Amino acid sequence: MKRDQLYWFTWFVFRIGYRMIGRLNHIAIVVPDLVAAANIYKDSLGADVSIIHELPDHGVKLVFVELPNSKVELLHPLNESSPIFSFLERNPMGGMHHICYEVDNIYKAADSLRGKGAKILGDGEPKIGAHGKPVLFLSPKDFLGTLIELEQV
Ligand code: CO
Repeated sequence: MKRDQLYWFTWFVFRIGYRMIGRLNHIAIVVPDLVAAANIYKDSLGADVSIIHELPDHGVKLVFVELPNSKVELLHPLNESSPIFSFLERNPMGGMHHICYEVDNIYKAADSLRGKGAKILGDGEPKIGAHGKPVLFLSPKDFLGTLIELEQV
C-alpha cells in the first residue's frame, strides 16, 4: 500500500469506527401458550412456523417463525427455574423479551462494550446460545429498556 493510500485507509477506519452490529438475527417473544402462539403467527399472520423445539440447557421451548429477512422466536419457559419464567409472571399476556443482532466477533464486541461501560449480563463472558453459537446479553438499563442479545455468526 502506498503512503497516500495508507493515509486514506487509516482516515476511513477511524472515521467509521468499529461497526459492531450487523443483521437483525431474531426478535424473541415470550408467550403463555406456545401452540396458540404458533397458530396465531401461522393462521392470522400467514407466517412459516417450525415445530416446537425443547432446549433444556436454556430452560425454554420455542417455535421459530421464519421471515424473509429475519426470524421471530416464540419462547415459553420449560419450568420454574427457566430464565424467562419471571418475565412471563410479570407479563402474563406475553411480550417482547429481546432483540438479537449479529456480530462478526463476540469477544471484540464484548471488549468494546466493556470499554464503553456497558454491562454484560451473567459473568460477563460470552456463552453458547440457543443456536450453538456464542452469545452475550446486554443490560436493558444501558440500551433504552431493551434486552439485547449479540450472536456471533
Ligand atoms: Co435470542
